Amino acid sequence: MTTIMTDVLVIGAGLAGERTAVEAAAHGLQVTILSLVPPRRSHSAAAQGGMQAALGNMAMSGGDSPDVHFEDTVKGADWGCNQDVARLFVSLAPVAVRQMAHWGVPWSRVVPGPKRLPDGQVIEESAEKEGLIAARNFGGTKKWRACFCSDGTGHSLLYTMDNVALQLGVEVHDRMEALALIHDGEHCYGAIVRDLRNGELRTYMARATVIATGGYGRIYGHSTNAVINDGTGMAIALDTGAVPLGNMEAVQFHPTGVVPGDILVTEGCRGDGGYLLDKDEHRFMPDYEPEKKELASRDVVSRRMIHHMREDHGVESPYGPHLWLDIRHLGQEHIETYLRDVAEICRDFLGVDPIHELIPVRPTQHYSMGGVRTDIGGRAYGLAGLYAAGEAACWDLHGFNRLGGNSVAETVVMGMVVGRSIAQDLAGSDSSFSDTAARSARLEVEQRLRALASYGLEYVYDLRQRMADILMEKVGVFRNGRELVTAVEELQELQERAKHLGLRSSGRGPDPEVSACLRLPGMIRLATTIAYGALQRTESRGSHYREDYPTRDDELWLRRTLATWTPAADLPRLSYEPVKITESPPGERGYGETRAGAEKEGIHG
Ligand code: FUM
Repeated sequence: MTTIMTDVLVIGAGLAGERTAVEAAAHGLQVTILSLVPPRRSHSAAAQGGMQAALGNMAMSGGDSPDVHFEDTVKGADWGCNQDVARLFVSLAPVAVRQMAHWGVPWSRVVPGPKRLPDGQVIEESAEKEGLIAARNFGGTKKWRACFCSDGTGHSLLYTMDNVALQLGVEVHDRMEALALIHDGEHCYGAIVRDLRNGELRTYMARATVIATGGYGRIYGHSTNAVINDGTGMAIALDTGAVPLGNMEAVQFHPTGVVPGDILVTEGCRGDGGYLLDKDEHRFMPDYEPEKKELASRDVVSRRMIHHMREDHGVESPYGPHLWLDIRHLGQEHIETYLRDVAEICRDFLGVDPIHELIPVRPTQHYSMGGVRTDIGGRAYGLAGLYAAGEAACWDLHGFNRLGGNSVAETVVMGMVVGRSIAQDLAGSDSSFSDTAARSARLEVEQRLRALASYGLEYVYDLRQRMADILMEKVGVFRNGRELVTAVEELQELQERAKHLGLRSSGRGPDPEVSACLRLPGMIRLATTIAYGALQRTESRGSHYREDYPTRDDELWLRRTLATWTPAADLPRLSYEPVKITESPPGERGYGETRAGAEKEGIHG
């Protein structure tokens, strides 16, 4: 078996992985990135609307500052986040935006006013500001703060970052999947990896290993995530038995996935003035959220939308009920300048022209606030030498609800921070690799491969679909104890059945069915961790909404869930750590009349 030695092994070539790699390489370390796909096809490329950073360049950003960004982030999180992390993040986000400009990102810029907003308000953009980095409005924020490149922000950032990584000599090994971490219970030494082009196994030994594999969206039946987002990085961390995942019950649904297909159409549509309409083409959000309307935080808007459809205001379709997103009034020039990817998605995937027609949308799984639990420097709990960055991590910037645009910003800020932590930790340290740990990880993976060749009766794609349906039906936007108990039991049954997977294909070479079989048990463990964490958390906070416990309970639940998984168990072991409040004590989130109005209807904001 090929063995490759490197200083830093980054698993995942999206923005978080590449930014970590760039920082480590800039400190003189040898860095190797593994990626399931060529890096420029990573899911970061799908990020559309923008990256939050308090630059204050727009008339509508007047008075913005890292302090206001901090306040928005903590409220958005429903006070479930780490405030030290939020403070660090908001202070570095403007640095990161400007650094990306320096590296070549073509940010959309302030153009001279006056401009008429869709609600009739006229704003003046002063001539002196012309040419500065612009920002658009996003949900749950007090100021226009989302810096953007039309609606291809992730695409522009990722291509730029990939160029920088190449310039710094970072090696990318693409079409590689990490199947297990090499560790001895105390220290991580790299990963056992499968080459997806020929099925061969490789050993990567590293002084530092970084999990930057993004989210797990595809364990849900409907997700805006790319097909590669199976949560493999979180799953291999959980498999160590030593590394906890944080807050896995905190799952974000984005209000506007298209129907059918679930592709994201950006919050920028609503930020730029788009409306949500029901089957009678009534704009319903102001009825629920008079102040923030369509731009309350995502968890609130998603709940309002589902509630409205449950009240029979949804549009019937062969793909189930949906609502409409209306951007027609923004006009052709605006749409083709600032929402051109949205226009293409609608035309190519729905046959809808959004300049003249309504876009069918509904809330769709979008983001994981949970992930590999790390400290403020991105060092994973439980194993020295292991780090995590971006969506795969839970340094806990987002608590129980992430603000739109804080994820792209997090990738580049956290990548910078984690790269620095690694450089600091490796300075002056010796490379000690454990052959014993590598051998045992290799044997375990080979054993899993052999088991697949032994003709089990269960078909991987059937079990996978069942898992995805359970999560959609019972662990979605609205949750309750009865359904969560059933979800956990059903997922435990699936875990048992997944021990008897058999291949219907040859299993030779790059066979995707083998990859699916190798991934599925870890995906079901993640699904169980989400459902079980949600069952235990008897309160509603941010995106975690319990119909049977509809209020936030700071006395009992101002705590972060930590989940570990011991071999042979069929449930995670949960423990809790306090959420430290350093600056902003828990209060009302302040999206209009949300809380009072919601209490009347049993829906909380
Ligand atoms: O709607 C969007 O453009 C998504 C942004 C995000 O998830 O941060």
